[in-house]
Amino acid sequence: MRQAGVDCLVLERADRDYVEGRVRAGILEQITVDLMARLGLDARLRREGLTHTGTNIAYGDELFRIDMAGLTEGRTVTVYGQQEVMKDLFDSAEQSELPIVFAARDVRLHGLDTAHPCVTWRKDGVDHAVDCDFIAGCDGSHGVSRGSIPADARTSFERVYPFGWMGVIADVPPCAEELIYCNHERGFALASMRSRNRSRYYIQCAADEPLEAWPDERFWDELCLRLGPVTARGVVRGPASEKSIAPLRSFVSEPMRYGRLFLAGDAAHIVPPTGAKGLNLAAADVILLSEALSDFYRTGSETALEAYSQRALARVWKAERFSWWFTSLTHRFPQMDAFDRRIQTAELAYMRTSPSAQAAFAENYVGLPLE
Ligand code: PHB
Repeated sequence: MRQAGVDCLVLERADRDYVEGRVRAGILEQITVDLMARLGLDARLRREGLTHTGTNIAYGDELFRIDMAGLTEGRTVTVYGQQEVMKDLFDSAEQSELPIVFAARDVRLHGLDTAHPCVTWRKDGVDHAVDCDFIAGCDGSHGVSRGSIPADARTSFERVYPFGWMGVIADVPPCAEELIYCNHERGFALASMRSRNRSRYYIQCAADEPLEAWPDERFWDELCLRLGPVTARGVVRGPASEKSIAPLRSFVSEPMRYGRLFLAGDAAHIVPPTGAKGLNLAAADVILLSEALSDFYRTGSETALEAYSQRALARVWKAERFSWWFTSLTHRFPQMDAFDRRIQTAELAYMRTSPSAQAAFAENYVGLPLE
């Protein structure tokens, strides 16, 4: 918006150290990388990001690679932590003197259904207010934006999964060049990374699993068991610098607009992390919304703003479907019986050998086009 000559103010509930220190997602779709490039924020990303042309899926004794680039006319994903994206955004805001208010407490939105909404907040005990044309609600699932839409003006769709992911970061080389998504009868496991010297691993666990019950050695043992003996040979163990459990949920709130408030990212929708879509969906929303807002300021037309919610949701639901499907394919569900296991294995075996099944996976994984 700044580059389009529009004045902006960013309100952030946390402080900068918190946002930059909190471990989040790690895989950028090309659309997200292209956005960073268009903003001139891709220098470090080009230097430090790892381009992946494929990804691996394992089940039973099998492991197969999906050649994403080969199946999508050269599209890839890039390993680059969300925290690094945030650092780059904050640095650039600082350089261009775009104001970001950190530690903005008690944020409230007013007059959303009028032409002159207003946002109030408190910082260091002092009350502040700003009048605005539009509010972009990019404040996540627990932010104030979605809740500021009257309940009778929105509809929620939700699926809660009966498990969580326990994630570990360790400063050790990753076990493989590319990611490995693993369906094991004891539960899902994922081998990921942040760099050539930093590994990111996950194992499926109970959503209410006590972290204290998982000292590092137990985590590594369980991870290696699920990854299987061949992959486990490449696992380098080390002290976990981060260990946490995240619940898995699919959620969409429709529409993504109420008057002058536009929702983007987790404020409107949540995906389980299995397809690595969360951050990328947020970036796609922001591209669509910023185009629509720029259009309005350039031409005075509200047509693109009026189309925003529908346009964003059409793509969001496809990513919801993919993340739900990939979660269902790779996780152990409490009610699963032998029939369900056989169906999972049959679908994985089909993917292993069918170029068209792999092409469908690849097309979704690298990110569907913005339509
Ligand atoms: C991660 O590295 O944190 C990661 C990678 C792929 C996923 C989810 C998380 O699907």
